[in-house]
Amino acid sequence: MNVTPIHRHNGMLYMDHVNLQQIAEHYGTPCYVYSRQGIRQRWLAFDNAFAQQPHLVCYAVKTNSNLAVLQTLAQLGAGFDIVSGGELARVLKAGGDASKVVFSGVGKSEAEMRFALASGIKCFNVESEAELYRLESVAKALNMVAPISLRVNPDVDPKTHAYISTGLKENKFGVSFKQALTLYRYAAASAHLMVQGIDCHIGSQLLDLAPLQEAATRVVAFQQQLNTEGIRLHHIDMGGGLGIDYQDSDQAPTPAAYVQALLDAIQQADMEVLVEPGRAIVGNNGVLLSKVELLKENEGKSFMVIDAAMNDLIRPALYDAWQSIVDVYDNAQVAQSVDVVGPVCETGDFLGKSRQLTSQPNDYIAVLSAGAYGFVMSSNYNTRPRAAEIMVDGAQHQCVRARETLEDLMRGERLFNE
Ligand code: LLP
Repeated sequence: MNVTPIHRHNGMLYMDHVNLQQIAEHYGTPCYVYSRQGIRQRWLAFDNAFAQQPHLVCYAVKTNSNLAVLQTLAQLGAGFDIVSGGELARVLKAGGDASKVVFSGVGKSEAEMRFALASGIKCFNVESEAELYRLESVAKALNMVAPISLRVNPDVDPKTHAYISTGLKENKFGVSFKQALTLYRYAAASAHLMVQGIDCHIGSQLLDLAPLQEAATRVVAFQQQLNTEGIRLHHIDMGGGLGIDYQDSDQAPTPAAYVQALLDAIQQADMEVLVEPGRAIVGNNGVLLSKVELLKENEGKSFMVIDAAMNDLIRPALYDAWQSIVDVYDNAQVAQSVDVVGPVCETGDFLGKSRQLTSQPNDYIAVLSAGAYGFVMSSNYNTRPRAAEIMVDGAQHQCVRARETLEDLMRGERLFNE
């Protein structure tokens, strides 16, 4: 079970002590709202579960990279998992510690490598032979030594959606154990590479811990093989992936159960343990608020047209993902079954189908579990300004990203000069 900061009182939806109807009226819609306390609690749940075990909980920045979210975690001493130079710039701007940053991703550019080396990050999670050679030559040109892990692909089935499954050998991520052995030998002999650890990430929204344990067991067995060759690793990074409850039947394991499962599999290895959770920290600490524009009927089918759309939250359209949608004010009227759709001109523009809701035009609805892969995947499709982002802390609330204006959208564009 996930604990969420969302609750109802006298029919009204609240996040922490803040009335979400008032937030919608004050800041306008669509807007994302995040709970600062909830985000802190979830990061601490991972951190505390490690107890005396040397560890670093590296928040996966891609999940929700708002500066105020990163700041909240940086203040707790969080590490960060980044996948671009842009994400590194955000972490530094939010007060994050570069020496706690790991850099994942299959296509790091030379410029990104230089930026990360100059910033003094903890480790590059290298995903291919070509990347290893590129990193070595970039480090050499700067007369520096790049700290590395190899991302291995343990070939286990994480039993999640195909688009977010990464640990099978047919996926583009990481290298096989066989190739990793050759590359570790190469790196150990290089003057510009420093072997630090080993890394893997098998997929996202995992509700079953067994594949993670299986992956950890395989990685540790490989680490012991490296040990016998005199190649010592200082850390094992098991990636992210812990799922959350999008619906009651999901029953996601707690961070504590997840950490314990990893430690059980890793116990004999004397290494610092890194994890890169994203969704499990922010997912259930965010909602998307939207206003009902109108209701319409088509041949017996009912639609609720709202002011948020697939450009604001693409998960339902892209992954057929199911997210709970609720009335912000439950007026105790009889609910109607509606497809909740946005104004974008695509049949795929829906946020939920056959939902039981009572809201009428100008009322507000909330899409729950929207803190992860929500705003960060939003776009300006149909020339729609991206939503505002609001952060709640107890009874306080602040705008942490202004709603975009049409000028913002057209900045940088020019008419053709005839
Ligand atoms: N580390 C690496 C190397 C990753 O690729 C990811 C996510 C994470 C950590 C964080 O995983 P998490 O703890 O959040 O499961 N857009 C999709 C999810 C894509 C996940 C990509 N990688 C969605 O909306 O479901």
